[in-house]
Amino acid sequence: MTRTRATASPLFTPTKTTPAQQRAARVKFAAARRTARVAGTPSPQRGSEPDERRLRPTYSTAGRPGPASARGGQLKLPAHRMTTAVAAGAYPFLAEGGLGAEGIYIGRDVHAEAAFCYDPFALYGKLEGFTNPNMLLAGIIGMGKSALAKSLATRAIAHGYRVYVPCDPKGEWTVVSESLGGHTIALGPGLPGRLNPLDAPDRPYGADPGDWASEVRKRRLLLLASLARTVLKRDLLPMEHTALDVALDIVVHAAGTTGVTPLLGDIARVLGSSYLLDTATESTTGALGRAAEDLTHALRRLVHGDLAGMFDAPSTVRFDPTAPMLSIDLSRLGGAGDDTALVLAMTCASAWMESALADPSGGRRWVIYDEAWRVMRHSALLERMQSQWKLSRGLGIANLMVIHRLSDLLTAGDAGSRSRALAEGLLSDCSTRIVYRQEPDQLATAASLLGLTGVETEAVSALTKGRGLWKVAGRGFVTQHILHPREFELFDTDARMLG
Ligand SMILES: Nc1ncnc2c1ncn2[C@@H]1O[C@H](COP(=O)(O)OP(=O)(O)OP(=O)(O)O)[C@@H](O)[C@H]1O
Ligand SMILES: [Mg+2]
Repeated sequence: MTRTRATASPLFTPTKTTPAQQRAARVKFAAARRTARVAGTPSPQRGSEPDERRLRPTYSTAGRPGPASARGGQLKLPAHRMTTAVAAGAYPFLAEGGLGAEGIYIGRDVHAEAAFCYDPFALYGKLEGFTNPNMLLAGIIGMGKSALAKSLATRAIAHGYRVYVPCDPKGEWTVVSESLGGHTIALGPGLPGRLNPLDAPDRPYGADPGDWASEVRKRRLLLLASLARTVLKRDLLPMEHTALDVALDIVVHAAGTTGVTPLLGDIARVLGSSYLLDTATESTTGALGRAAEDLTHALRRLVHGDLAGMFDAPSTVRFDPTAPMLSIDLSRLGGAGDDTALVLAMTCASAWMESALADPSGGRRWVIYDEAWRVMRHSALLERMQSQWKLSRGLGIANLMVIHRLSDLLTAGDAGSRSRALAEGLLSDCSTRIVYRQEPDQLATAASLLGLTGVETEAVSALTKGRGLWKVAGRGFVTQHILHPREFELFDTDARMLG
């Protein structure tokens, strides 16, 4: 009797079979393989389909199309040896070894076809030229800048960092903050949220009480001066500075005896009283009261004007240093083209947040300024940002500012002006610059401000959604930011456009 070989599955074709049986078995095998392949594919859902497209290799397996591919010809070049540093200059992106696996997963390095991870705290001290943890993110509307900032925030929290968003003019961070267990304070006329910008932060552990009191006084004076400057649209005169510090001392002294926190309304009241200012300075001329008239009216706007109620009452929220995220929703302010309300609110809100951030034992934190181009038009806010930038290393803070165009930095002021210098200073204090797609007329500015090579500039003009040129301490990567389907749902800002 002929022995048929044992089979592991009915699809295995024994040797002693007729060709017809073999054919039938092959057809069955092909059908089974198809079924298995379909079963292994996840069901399509929103967010995963674009992922498929994004994950496709940049070029087909035959390489780059066109004559640049240098394929198919008779080109024969002698072998050429060079160091990897020279190779990286000659072939940017292709010869790049990556930043390593440490840090927050961002997506895919499209040229190296490898995962791209980034963490400014992990890179600091390890990468040559990486002198600070600050980041700049620029790109045209709708290219996914906020989505990247939100992903960085969400994933940073998983790495144990805390995230603060002092500027959210579109109110799109609220949903992110709430779903991560953080807090949001919405400020605007008629809303219940209140922030007292004169709140004194808790004294850091080990700080001398006398030193801390003078630090708090300095912060409050800076805040009052920048509020007044914003409303008056000019620098303060020397006597106005004096009036402010005399008024602050009177109010703080009175508050100390009653045990309450001083309010902006108290300051405005003292400034408006020539008698109180004269008594405190042991004068009888009333000169200080007269010099403070403009100031009184400037602060009045925050107490009785269109911002009344928002910043002249005790805070309705306490800064919770243990919360993973805190955002300040300013979407109800500055809608009608007048940014002054937004700037005043941001000044108060950022002063309030910064005083809490000043605690160096607060761990590593991220501070994200979404839509920072709006902030950059105002020198008072630029100054605040600059001081945050300078303090970043000492306090363990990574700042991220999101703008549309690199020329936003140049429009902060005229050439040679203080605002312009401040804005350019912010750029030079960012070791990481991420450029999303730029309009053709912006490419030259971007290239000159960031020192991009011709190849990099060309790459920037052709970037698609979520794809950016990352310049990290002079090294360049083209990276596709990959969103998790849940992130895609949470960060969606296209819902209104797509219906
Ligand atoms: N990497 C990505 N992959 C797929 N979709 C993305 C990606 N990044 C962003 N998107 C989608 O693109 C839309 C616009 O993104 P986003 O709001 O982040 O743009 P933006 O650059 O911040 O725009 P604007 O300048 O108006 O603030 C969002 O709905 C988001 O879900
Ligand atoms: Mg955005």
